[in-house]
Amino acid sequence: MTYAAITSVASWLPERRLTNADLERMVDTSDEWIRTRTGISERRVADDADATSDLAARAGALALERAGVAPGDVDMLIVATSTPDMAFPSTACLAQAKMGLTCPAFDINAACTGFIYALELAASMIEANRLTTVLVIGAEVLTRLLDFTDRTTCVLFGDGAGAVVVQASDEAGVLSVHLGADGGGADLLTVPGGGSALPMTAELLSQGTQYIHMNGNEVYKFAVRAIPRVTKQALAESGLSLADVDWLVPHQANERITLTVGERLGISHDRVVNAIAMTGNTSTASIPLALDDLQRSGKLHAGDVLALVGFGAGLTYGAAIVRWTLKEA
Ligand code: ACO
Repeated sequence: MTYAAITSVASWLPERRLTNADLERMVDTSDEWIRTRTGISERRVADDADATSDLAARAGALALERAGVAPGDVDMLIVATSTPDMAFPSTACLAQAKMGLTCPAFDINAACTGFIYALELAASMIEANRLTTVLVIGAEVLTRLLDFTDRTTCVLFGDGAGAVVVQASDEAGVLSVHLGADGGGADLLTVPGGGSALPMTAELLSQGTQYIHMNGNEVYKFAVRAIPRVTKQALAESGLSLADVDWLVPHQANERITLTVGERLGISHDRVVNAIAMTGNTSTASIPLALDDLQRSGKLHAGDVLALVGFGAGLTYGAAIVRWTLKEA
């Protein structure tokens, strides 16, 4: 049997920082409110000259280098993003050219769960012996979709990219993935304007429909219900139990969500990766960013079991149970 395993992880963050103190000068908010309600201290903002494909290409190139994979040996590139450079061509095609790849390339949009959806696609195609090496990237420039007069959203999000190389292996790495979607909750988190439903007009622009609109309370309730449920479903499919999980790596949307789901699953705080403080919510990039943090901390060891769990607009949710196969810290 051919298995799929993560053979490298990498991330890339813009240098420009937007601190809570900066936001205090822009909207009616406070460092104390943002930290206690979300756990965020600062987030990164992409350089004006950069688009999502630039961030994606930098994280992707680093992941390839760490895996020792030459650009010509990548069989497929999947970019998960909620903030594509443009409607088309795909951000994956733009990033593919920037990295010097020649493989098929496409985007998927499952909002903040996009990385888990992309991982499932990559692992499935490898296990089916259709591909050997897939580059999966989650990349976002969310700050361009933020209304910096709306304190309920502008304090939450940031820019960044994370990537993994997924390869055919004799060792079982990606053990199971469980995905879900509930389009009945689609209106809870949207960027309503600029698509085929509401093509952009001067009037829609003046109404701010190009920005993120969110019912934060309802998304919060959905997240703390969905994450424990889908984690248990994915674990059951892998034949493992909660006691086997060494690391819970949830989508980093709010530290309170992260800690609450850890408690609901009975996973101690020191086993729940909490990487939101310096990045904010980076949507599809947040899970590979958190995984890269964990890997670089030296705490992640070969054989460890990880539950990577996403949730987001759609509403979408998904969990991947992964056994870490990389030897070096
Ligand atoms: N600064 C100061 N006050 C604020 C701010 C702010 N930035 N934002 C809201 N407030 C105020 C509100 O106006 C409200 O005031 P009121 O009581 O006078 O009406 C008060 O703070 C409380 O507001 P709540 O919305 O109830 O605050 P809550 O504790 O629920 O936190 C938050 C809001 C952080 C948005 C939380 O609901 C949350 O994290 N939800 C989940 C969001 C999420 O995960 N989104 C990403 C999904 S993934 C994806 O697909 C992108």
